[in-house]
Amino acid sequence: MANESFIGWMTQIQQTMETALTRFLPSADTLPQRLHQAMRYATLQGGKRVRPLLAFAAGELSGASAENLARVAAAVEMIHAYSLVHDDLPCMDDDVLRRGKPTCHVEFDEATALLVGDALQTLAFELIATPMEGVSPASQLAMCQLLARASGHGGMAGGQAIDLASVGQTLNLPELEFMHMLKTGALIRAAVLLGAMAGQPLNAKQTEQLDIFAKRIGLAFQVVDDVLDCEADTATLGKTAGKDAANDKPTYVSLMGLAEAKQFARELREQAFAALEDFGPAADRLKQLADYIVARSF
Ligand code: IPE
Ligand code: IPE
Ligand code: MG
Ligand code: MG
Ligand code: MG
Repeated sequence: MANESFIGWMTQIQQTMETALTRFLPSADTLPQRLHQAMRYATLQGGKRVRPLLAFAAGELSGASAENLARVAAAVEMIHAYSLVHDDLPCMDDDVLRRGKPTCHVEFDEATALLVGDALQTLAFELIATPMEGVSPASQLAMCQLLARASGHGGMAGGQAIDLASVGQTLNLPELEFMHMLKTGALIRAAVLLGAMAGQPLNAKQTEQLDIFAKRIGLAFQVVDDVLDCEADTATLGKTAGKDAANDKPTYVSLMGLAEAKQFARELREQAFAALEDFGPAADRLKQLADYIVARSF
């Protein structure tokens, strides 16, 4: 019963996001058409929308409106979609399949894929800088700053730089954790915190607890991504399986082994749950999402 209602909620948010992203993205028939088509290709009709789901679930803690949440979630999802387009380029992971379709640079071309990333990133900031009802200008500035930090050299882009520099290396556990926290954890953390910030401000203690949850689940997400790369098949994943080993990337699986990596993801889930204790039932959706992130099969 609880699971059924979670799946129903998830489907509803995914549909809301498809509508919101369709509206926020530039129309495919306005100039420059090829860029706009590619932006829509890379963002629409695909992906689990985990970051938007987390933003909406965190918004339940602060009474954020659906309209504000859609805007914040779309901004984070656009940064994520851009990161995937660039991650798949030949100069990075060199992948030809993403979300069950040819990657952006294969379907279009490399220059277009580069520009898609540039344009999605700036559109994300345009969205999050647009005044939101019930959110003070000072809070919105803090939201812009949070998203910038999560995306830039101290977040996703920095993590990707470490990832590329680590090919063929053996990282120790703290080094691997640092890389994962940056390349994937930072944006997931931002999704959670921004969802909460789109409503009434939480108190300092609540923000601190939510931040612990966000960091633990952000790391768990990439640990599971490493496990699935090794264990799942290409058809299920919608992206080429076994790429980490093929590209000689250090991962939780290469460092700990499969069983230990799965155990570590479960431990992170426990830590994430513990951080939500004081929120009571308002945090149920976040807990269900934490379970989904650890137990997912793609
Ligand atoms: C894949 O992210 C890349 C990582 C950051 C691990 P997702 O697994 O969220 O990809 P989509 O959005 O569902 O395609
Ligand atoms: C990518 O990590 C993280 C990003 C910032 C895009 P991966 O390279 O493991 O993501 P996948 O497995 O290609 O989706
Ligand atoms: Mg990569
Ligand atoms: Mg990759
Ligand atoms: Mg991966």
